[in-house]
Amino acid sequence: MHNLTIDPDRLWRSIMETAAIGGTPKGGISRLALTDRDRQARDWLKSACEDLGCTVTVDEVGNMFAVRPGRLDVPPIAVGSHLDTQPTGGKFDGILGVLAGLELLRTLDEAGYETNAPLMLVNWTNEEGSRFSPAMLGSGVHAGVFDRAYADSRTDRQGVTFGEALDEIGYRGPAKVGSTAFGAMFELHIEQGPILEAEEKAIGVVTGVQGMRWYEIALTGREAHTGSTPMSLRRDALVGAARIIGAVEAIARTHPPGVGTVGLVEVGPNSRNVIPGHVFLTVDFRHPDDAALDVMEEALFATVEEAGRASGLEHALRQVWNSPAVAFDPALVDAVRRAADGLGLSWREIVSGAGHDAAYVARIAPTTMIFVPCAGGLSHNEAEATSYEECRAGAQVLLAAVLDHDRR
Ligand code: GLV
Ligand code: MN
Ligand code: MN
Ligand code: MN
Repeated sequence: MHNLTIDPDRLWRSIMETAAIGGTPKGGISRLALTDRDRQARDWLKSACEDLGCTVTVDEVGNMFAVRPGRLDVPPIAVGSHLDTQPTGGKFDGILGVLAGLELLRTLDEAGYETNAPLMLVNWTNEEGSRFSPAMLGSGVHAGVFDRAYADSRTDRQGVTFGEALDEIGYRGPAKVGSTAFGAMFELHIEQGPILEAEEKAIGVVTGVQGMRWYEIALTGREAHTGSTPMSLRRDALVGAARIIGAVEAIARTHPPGVGTVGLVEVGPNSRNVIPGHVFLTVDFRHPDDAALDVMEEALFATVEEAGRASGLEHALRQVWNSPAVAFDPALVDAVRRAADGLGLSWREIVSGAGHDAAYVARIAPTTMIFVPCAGGLSHNEAEATSYEECRAGAQVLLAAVLDHDRR
């Protein structure tokens, strides 16, 4: 048994120091993928890893891999997550997994501890999917879910492509996508939901990730004068959108524990005395059971047809992302459970409601995740909060699980 302990002060300092890159007045972070702020956070991480003598490689879609050699020439055990955030994101989503991984490297370095397998810290590109959809794009390319050309061609709402933004910040690396081998991956993350806090559990032993599907809907009616156009002659795209938004909520509620959200709406021309002629909206459906998502999807298609007919709209609906439910590797899940038990921490099994790079890495290597609570279950919010103690516990479980796996 090892008796290594991570340094919680050093971990907390890293979190607070990097939180200044894109820090918001409300205490969160605004650091969209492939912006100059993302570059600054990447530069910070790269130099921290190089200070430890790690070799940092970057692949063609900007995924970063920092390797600390082990005793054996075998595929590395990976840890990490993502450094990009939502436009009004918090200080912990993704970031905790990366900086706890860095803390592992620092702890091992300080102790002069030699692992059997190399240890690899990963920062995945564009996990959030906020600037460039879909989410988990960098890990998806790595796992062969998307090809590189597809990633490069994704555009933000201003028309800038992923490839242009990547070149602009100087993070298109030479490593071929998918060429970096993974022996296993452990991703530490905040829960982003209320369960652990409500049940007063320190650790979530994550057994899988629910299925996720994203859709884009464009509705076209006719712009006309609001004062002189009788109600019976209108083709109001926003009225159609309102029907769809209400139906998305109803569909999710009738398929528990499914969830459904319209998070982005653009209205044209968005003028108070013009009947809306164009609406663009997005739908996000999630459910642990892929068959239930099929049913929800069918209901959405019927709803859009119906809303189009009722308001006289042309409509286009397409699925832009489908990430099926994932079950994590049982041996790695066990390693996390043993680690929590060994440290005397309370835990429960949990299925992730949020998407994570681990869901795609699971396609190419044994993978699992560790969750820690966050206050009020709040995430994708500047007020997102996980305590010093919770971060310490999560990082210590990560270290123990990695070393347990390394000895097997
Ligand atoms: C990404 O953060 C997602 O879960 O949508
Ligand atoms: Mn995340
Ligand atoms: Mn997120
Ligand atoms: Mn996420």
